Amino acid sequence: MPGLFSPIEINGLELKNRIVMPPMETNKATPEGCITDWIINHYVKRARGGVGLIIVEHTFVLPNGRFSPRQLGLYKDDLIPGFRQLADAIHAAGVPCILQLNHAGSRTKSEVIGGQTVSASAIPLPTGGEVPRELLADEVLEIEHAFASAAGRAKEAGFDGVEIHGAHGFLLNQFASPLTNKRNDEYGLDMTGRMRFPLEVIQSVRDTVGSDYSLFYRLGADDMIEGGITIEDGVEMAKLIVNAGIKVVDVSGGLIGSRPPEMVPGQFAPQAARVKKAVDVPVIAVGLITTGELADDIVRDGDADLVAIGRALLKDENWPRTAAMDIGLE
Ligand SMILES: Cc1cc2nc3c(=O)[nH]c(=O)nc-3n(C[C@H](O)[C@H](O)[C@H](O)COP(=O)(O)O)c2cc1C
Repeated sequence: MPGLFSPIEINGLELKNRIVMPPMETNKATPEGCITDWIINHYVKRARGGVGLIIVEHTFVLPNGRFSPRQLGLYKDDLIPGFRQLADAIHAAGVPCILQLNHAGSRTKSEVIGGQTVSASAIPLPTGGEVPRELLADEVLEIEHAFASAAGRAKEAGFDGVEIHGAHGFLLNQFASPLTNKRNDEYGLDMTGRMRFPLEVIQSVRDTVGSDYSLFYRLGADDMIEGGITIEDGVEMAKLIVNAGIKVVDVSGGLIGSRPPEMVPGQFAPQAARVKKAVDVPVIAVGLITTGELADDIVRDGDADLVAIGRALLKDENWPRTAAMDIGLE
């Protein structure tokens, strides 16, 4: 079986190992959402540190989908040159890069977006927050087009692919979860209806960037809240998104978020293993993976093809080297 340091080809991208830097918001963009030197340095350090792939932090596709005041945004063409600088700098360090695209829905604050938040239904997240306004069907289409336009800009900027954020209680997760989607129209009612919006986003993005472009999806495979998405639902959702053209499934938590309170090492690896058995595209595992040994075991056991190292890589930009020593490699 391949291990953590075995190379892998994904949809034409050559990765030197299975270590992924997962999307992690830095909150260091300009107020407009523009790339800064600080952000470029931050990613270049991790690229030089030896990761196989970088997924750049969540980037809002429309101003009303912004999560935080200094978040990256790619909602207009003027922002492309900054993203091109970032992609070029990561590539110069020999690492492919993917850009994560997001709409926060009700997981933001009206003071951040300058108006009422929006969601599938007019109910707050079970984890708290403001009461959003229910999106009209034509507004849903507008958001789909915004994802597609942002993806087109990411491609133009030189990114090797985009990741659609469908996890952590953000808008796509809000549509997919029965806890936050109480709609009675074609975007609700059952799994087919609740997945309509995420699947239309994927289709819309594909129509813009082409079916060969690397499309990742961060799947909220398990809400871990009574009445929400279960891992059985997550597996069905994974099959639907792969069928719609997703090339890599990045398995994480749903409404509970990315870092549940009592997180255990390899938190979402069991969910990744379930998804991996059901789909024929590469799968990423994440969640408090801090040692080379655990990361290597996840790959060797066949639970996932790639492992995402989040906070450990923020602490130690040379984590891949530390991990190699951990498992007795040069
Ligand atoms: C500071 C910080 C920012 C994050 N921002 C994002 C983000 O932009 N998009 C996303 O999908 N997950 C985000 N996450 C979640 C991470 O990608 C990852 O799933 C989580 O931290 C668990 O992995 P870890 O235990 O290795 O840190 C963030 C996590 C941290 C710590």
